[in-house]
Amino acid sequence: YADSNEASAAVAREIAEIIRSKQLQGKPAVLGLATGSSPKKVYAELIRIHREERLSFYNVISFNLDEYYPMKPDALQSYMRFMKEQLFDHIDIPKANYFLPDGTLAPSQVAAFCQEYEQRIDELGGLDFQLLGIGRNGHIGFNEPGSHVNSKTRLMTLDLTTRIDAALDFGGLANVPKKAITLGINQVMKAKRVVLLAWGEHKAKIIHEAIEGPVTDRVPATYLQGHANVQFVLDESAASELT
Ligand code: F6R
Repeated sequence: YADSNEASAAVAREIAEIIRSKQLQGKPAVLGLATGSSPKKVYAELIRIHREERLSFYNVISFNLDEYYPMKPDALQSYMRFMKEQLFDHIDIPKANYFLPDGTLAPSQVAAFCQEYEQRIDELGGLDFQLLGIGRNGHIGFNEPGSHVNSKTRLMTLDLTTRIDAALDFGGLANVPKKAITLGINQVMKAKRVVLLAWGEHKAKIIHEAIEGPVTDRVPATYLQGHANVQFVLDESAASELT
């Protein structure tokens, strides 16, 4: 796409279509959602469609990819707060229908929580649509380099690159949590449709590696090459190193 506005509008339209078609079938639309700067315009466009085209989110059940650990839900940098501010507080999704990994759990509770998170998705028949961004190190969700293709939802130690990229939001590297709970690659690969967003020159190198490089655990996004229904939605700068 020429720019991220046009691209984000197209992605929002696709999500809206899934929600509407599930409504006609009387079924929930099960969405996997991402945070970060990349999906912001998609969420803004979904809010616009809700307001101006009366798209209802009553049948949407959503699962976010990740949350920092530890993290309080009302903290400035929490992904729960991000999702409320960017989307949930502006649409009619029922409060009981959106789920994020819980950054307030005691360490001994994390494993069981992660298992239940996946089970809930599986019981709904899996994700109809998974929205992704990509880290400069090729992470998807917070599946950092070294993550196995079959990795499950789990507590992950964040890469230094990831923490450096988050440092501004936390007022310095020292304040960035060292861990996060992330949906595993396995669940992402089971999604019926996957759309990865990347904007800007600083993503061009990793986009080239993710699409045109060999499949490797050093760049977890390369696993998507094996997904049957994936699309990378890019602006011209992010696509500039594709051959
Ligand atoms: C966020 C997430 C991360 C981001 C990635 C890109 O929920 O899972 O993988 O998508 O770090 O972040 P931005 O979009 O801020 O460049």
